[in-house]
Amino acid sequence: MSFALPHFLSVKQINSIITVEVFFTLARNIEMLLKSEKSLNVLKEHILASLFFEPSTRTRMSFSSAFYRLGGKVIDFTPDSSSIKKGESIEDTSRMISSYADIAVIRHPQQGQVNKFANVSNIPVINAGDGSGEHPTQALLDLYTIFKEMNVVTADALKGMQLTMVGDLKYGRAVHSLCSLLCLMPALQLHFIAPEPLRLPPELKEQLIAAGHSVYESEELKPALQKSQVVYMTRIQEERFPDPEEAKIYQGAYSINQKLWQEYASPEAILMHPLPRNSQLNQLEIETDMDNHPKLAMFRQSANGVPIRMGLFVQMLGGEDILL
Ligand code: NCD
Repeated sequence: MSFALPHFLSVKQINSIITVEVFFTLARNIEMLLKSEKSLNVLKEHILASLFFEPSTRTRMSFSSAFYRLGGKVIDFTPDSSSIKKGESIEDTSRMISSYADIAVIRHPQQGQVNKFANVSNIPVINAGDGSGEHPTQALLDLYTIFKEMNVVTADALKGMQLTMVGDLKYGRAVHSLCSLLCLMPALQLHFIAPEPLRLPPELKEQLIAAGHSVYESEELKPALQKSQVVYMTRIQEERFPDPEEAKIYQGAYSINQKLWQEYASPEAILMHPLPRNSQLNQLEIETDMDNHPKLAMFRQSANGVPIRMGLFVQMLGGEDILL
């Protein structure tokens, strides 16, 4: 039961939460197997092409790590030393890559380029971030993290949960994809905290309401913090602003430190962040005094990228039955 064929470009390709639950079972099995074996050798002889036209640490490396841990090999595309510099189109680049690899992972700063690449590809393509559009694998690892941290295996067990998303909800593709994925969940209470100009796109808000969720928007973090079981902080996406100077107005607008967390958050709440956090002075969305807090889930969250991406590769290339 794969939601990711022939390509995985959008969370909207997933039409039922049951598919997600089955996929999470696969990811949990992979995690268990990885405890005793370093490599699962299911995709021996396979080649992944990794194309990042935009900076990335976690997403790029966890996709590569996932592929190596399945026994495959990875070839990297480096935009600055590629024929893109000679004027080659994204479509021609895609046609070439199709004969060098068995699957491709691509991130691009301009929304729509990932789809153009996939449209002419003869091999499966995974969207690793498409401008301010979607970041579907991040959404899967985020929801997987919520399931794990809350110790549940079915979506029903999270019914009524209060979740708060904070920061740049306008340009943040991780937020956009997570919201689309939440549309498959039973009724939740969702709080969206952002400066007025960085609110969630109205069509996403409507989709969440149509899916049965209660949606609250505010510029005030503290009241939502008191009610939430999950708090999801995000970085101001400076690189997506028409005028990056404008981003500076909002950087540092929301920040969680130990004092605020102790005073307002409920003891069972978890704190997430897709990372990177902005470490420049006075801009940290989560201050470093939270780094050893047991409820800070963001480093576990990024580690979950490996089993989730391994699961996706076996779903798309075969070998799922061996691991389920
Ligand atoms: C996010 C992204 O690239 O959209 N990072 C990630 O993939 N973990 C969030 C961000 O860059 O702020």
